[in-house]
Amino acid sequence: MKAIIENKNIVLGVSGGIAAYKSVELLRLMVKRGANVRVIMTKNARWFVGPLTFKALSGQPVCTDLFENGEDASIRHIDWAGEADAVVIAPATANIIGKLANGVADDALSTFILAVTCPMILCPSMNSQMYESKAVQRNIERLKADGHFVIDPDSGQLACGTTGPGRLPEPEDILDRLIYYLSPKDLKGKRLLVTAGPTRESIDPVRFISNPSSGKMGFAVAKAAEKRGGDVTLITGPTNLADLNNVKMLKVNTAQGMAEAVFSHMEHADIIIKVAAVSDYRPKEQTEQKIKKDNISELVVFLEENPDILKELGRRKKNQILVGFAAETENLEKHSQKKLTEKNLDLIVGNIVGRPSSGFDAETNKATLFYKDGTTEPLPTMEKDDLAHVLLDRILQL
Ligand code: CTP
Repeated sequence: MKAIIENKNIVLGVSGGIAAYKSVELLRLMVKRGANVRVIMTKNARWFVGPLTFKALSGQPVCTDLFENGEDASIRHIDWAGEADAVVIAPATANIIGKLANGVADDALSTFILAVTCPMILCPSMNSQMYESKAVQRNIERLKADGHFVIDPDSGQLACGTTGPGRLPEPEDILDRLIYYLSPKDLKGKRLLVTAGPTRESIDPVRFISNPSSGKMGFAVAKAAEKRGGDVTLITGPTNLADLNNVKMLKVNTAQGMAEAVFSHMEHADIIIKVAAVSDYRPKEQTEQKIKKDNISELVVFLEENPDILKELGRRKKNQILVGFAAETENLEKHSQKKLTEKNLDLIVGNIVGRPSSGFDAETNKATLFYKDGTTEPLPTMEKDDLAHVLLDRILQL
C-alpha cells in the first residue's frame, strides 16, 4: 500500500486565525506525500497568510472569493467538492465551525463545505474561552454527529496570551490523523504486539552494550497497523522517536526487560512482529559503581547469553501469527531461512544491514520476505513506512 494520500485530491480550507501560518507547512507536507492539494481561504485568512504562498506551494489557483473577477466561482467550488477525496479545515475558527454546524453558506469556503460528500476533518483553533464556550462545544458536537472528524486542539500558551486548549496541532500530527481517517481499516479487531529498537545491557552505571538500531522500522510497523485499525501494543527499547498516537507503548531497557514485557502481553495478541534488535549477550556482572581506569590497561568483561525472546515465542505460540526480522551482513537467504525454522515463524523479513540505504538508522530498507511454505519474495528498496504496509498486507494474506 503506497502512501494513502498519494495522487489524492485534497482540499485545504484555511479560515482566519493566527494558526493559519501552520497550514502552509501542512500543505507542504501533503504535497510532499504526492497529494494534489487545492486551497480555499476565507477573506479573514488573507490577513494572516497571502494566497500567493498557498498558490506557489500547491501549484494550483487559490480560491478566496465567491465572485472572483466578476465571475461566479461557486460552480468551481461545487466541482472541487465533487472531486475531493478529503477536506481538511485548518485552522477552523469558531466562525467557520458555527457556519458549518448550521448550514450557513455566505462565502467561498462555507459554500464549498456544504457541497462536500467526502471525509472532512476539522481542526478547531482559537482562544481557550471561545473554544470551551457552550456555543462552540455544541457546534463541534453537532459536526461530529453529522459525521465529520474533529481533531482536538493542543493545550498550551496561545497567541492571545492565555494558556489552555485551542492551539492548532502540529502539521505532522494533522497529517497523521488525515492518513488515519483515509486508511482502510483492514486490521480492525486484530491485536498486534510489536517490538522495536535496541536493548541496552549495563556494564556499570555509565556504560552499556547496545547496537545502532534506531527503532524506525518497528515504529513504522506499529504506526501503520494503528492506521489500519489494529489494536497495537509497542514494546520498545531506548530510541529518540516520538511516542505514537493511539498505540499502547511500553518502554524497556534490557533484553530481560523486553522478554518480561513481551511474555506478559503475548497471550492477548493475534499477530506478533518482533522488529527489535535484541542484544544477544549481557555483562555477567554489573558493578554498582563506575569502573575506574586506574591501573587497568586491559578490561575484560564477561558476557552471558540473553533469552532468545522470539524463539521462546515460537515455542509458546498458539494460533498466532509470528513474524521475525533477520539482520544480516552476508548469506541473507541461508541465515533467514535458518531463523524462520528454528524460531517457528510464519514469516521472516531478511535485510542486509550496514548499508546507507538499508539498515539500522536508514530511512529506507531493502528486504526479502521468507515464508514458512518455502516461498521467497524479494522487495525493492523502499521507505520503512511503505515496507511496514507491505508487510501488513502480506500478514493479512497469511
Ligand atoms: N531476537 C529475540 N531475542 C534475542 C535475539 C533476537 O527475540 N535474544 C529476535 C529479533 O527481534 C529478530 C530475530 O530474533 O526478530 C532475529 O534477530 P537477529 O539479531 O537477526 O538474530 P539472532 O537470532 O540474534 O541470531 P544471530 O545474532 O546469530 O544472527
